[in-house]
Amino acid sequence: MDVKTAIRTRRSVRKYQNTPVPKELVLELLEAANLAPSATNRQPWEFVVVNRSYLDRLEDILKEAFRERVAGVSEGAMRQAIEDLSLPEEEDGDRLKALGTFYRTLGGAPVAIGVCLPREKDPWVWKNNISDSAAAIENLLLAAWDQGLGTCWMAGPLKARADMIAAFLGVPPDRELVAIVTLGYPGHQPPMPPKKDVANKTRWLGFD
Ligand SMILES: Cc1cc2nc3c(=O)[nH]c(=O)nc-3n(C[C@H](O)[C@H](O)[C@H](O)COP(=O)(O)O)c2cc1C
Repeated sequence: MDVKTAIRTRRSVRKYQNTPVPKELVLELLEAANLAPSATNRQPWEFVVVNRSYLDRLEDILKEAFRERVAGVSEGAMRQAIEDLSLPEEEDGDRLKALGTFYRTLGGAPVAIGVCLPREKDPWVWKNNISDSAAAIENLLLAAWDQGLGTCWMAGPLKARADMIAAFLGVPPDRELVAIVTLGYPGHQPPMPPKKDVANKTRWLGFD
């Protein structure tokens, strides 16, 4: 797949087939992630690759993470916030319930990848580390899509339960878990959500 096609067609996948993803293939994707640009070439990212058997044991924590994610936000506001998300259909058509199911089960993904960064006191270095990890994650997402694999970049479960999830994944205290990426063969075909017009968000200086 050429880069342009991968960028245009990649979608966040929230339901997966239970077909396993070979370890060698995951490593190939992590190698693509690892080739991302980073400030002063620090390459601060680290990964924890988690198999389904482990993810099953994470379900209670993820369920709680979703409960806390929606607590304090009105149901209407939450429903509005998730309006654009491509969610697999629940039997009763309730999208909030569908999101809850995705959080709890990670869509049945056979693999999830935790992305970690060294804890950092200097805000400038931290900001760059976050940018670096985002570049690495995007490489991972595109490389996966190229192999017919779906992903969903997730930060939501980390809002209230990052420490519990990190502890479960054995992330040492001097590292921070900044994202979870689900990975597997897609179990649905999400449409492209609305994308804003970039022309309305761009200023050109020194052009005619
Ligand atoms: C930093 C970040 C955090 C995200 N967190 C979540 C999440 O917690 N749950 C979720 O379902 N999707 C999450 N997403 C996926 C976005 O919802 C998705 O990228 C967006 O709706 C656009 O859809 P697309 O990826 O198919 O283009 C996240 C994406 C990013 C970049």
